[in-house]
Amino acid sequence: MSTVDSDRQNRAYYDTFSARYDDPRGGGYHRLIDDLEMEVIEPLARGKDVLELGCGTGLLLERVARVARSAEGIDISPGMLAAARERGLSVREGSVTELPYADASFDFVYSVKVLAHVPAIDAAMAEAARVTRPGGLVALELYNPLSFRYLAKRVFGPQPIGEGRTEADVFTRWDAPWQLDERLPPELERVEVRGIRVLTPVAAVHRIPALGPWLGRAERWAARSPLRWAGGFLMVVARRR
Ligand SMILES: C[S@@+](CC[C@H](N)C(=O)[O-])C[C@H]1O[C@@H](n2cnc3c(N)ncnc32)[C@H](O)[C@@H]1O
Repeated sequence: MSTVDSDRQNRAYYDTFSARYDDPRGGGYHRLIDDLEMEVIEPLARGKDVLELGCGTGLLLERVARVARSAEGIDISPGMLAAARERGLSVREGSVTELPYADASFDFVYSVKVLAHVPAIDAAMAEAARVTRPGGLVALELYNPLSFRYLAKRVFGPQPIGEGRTEADVFTRWDAPWQLDERLPPELERVEVRGIRVLTPVAAVHRIPALGPWLGRAERWAARSPLRWAGGFLMVVARRR
């Protein structure tokens, strides 16, 4: 798929999704995923000039903006960005494959739940490296086929996201752990990989009162353990050479 076609598809898909994107994200499974991602992002963003690639409605960027020196977001979907603007965030419309920022503009650049929807992922990663200052860090999240999450998607099929659309209406890629290093451009040196959603078989188990909090604690442990390579989401932290 060409970048123009994929940008158009992502824009249409997320413009539809924007009407209900935030609804389930205040608690339970979705809040846990955001919290696990923030446990990587927040310490790296503290006191820094930060950019979020694919900031969506600004759920994470809002939390980052509280600790960063400056916080910017970019996203392809005007619908998602409208919600981010309502949060008072500094955001721009554009694609992660062609960032409207000068070289070496940020200390820390991160992206979560986005690059899996970008066919031209190598261009997006090269752009992330370009706008990061030498010695700065990036944290880029990919979807892992070696995971319960992948299995659940295969078993239960594409879920509805609103107005007759389902998850099948957006391009989704899966990058295995052994492909991470070849994905990174030469300007980026891998520092760490965190696994997110390692132990959760299906999201619904977080609705079981006694199990949800226990599983949350277990997920925090698993994120840094050797089991992290089976995370549904793999967060690669890399340093700009
Ligand atoms: C699942 S949402 C994640 C939003 C946010 N990062 C979060 O964690 O809440 C994916 C976001 O990526 C954006 N996106 C997809 N492809 C993009 C591209 N090529 N350039 C910029 N944003 C893109 C979508 O519009 C959407 O807002």
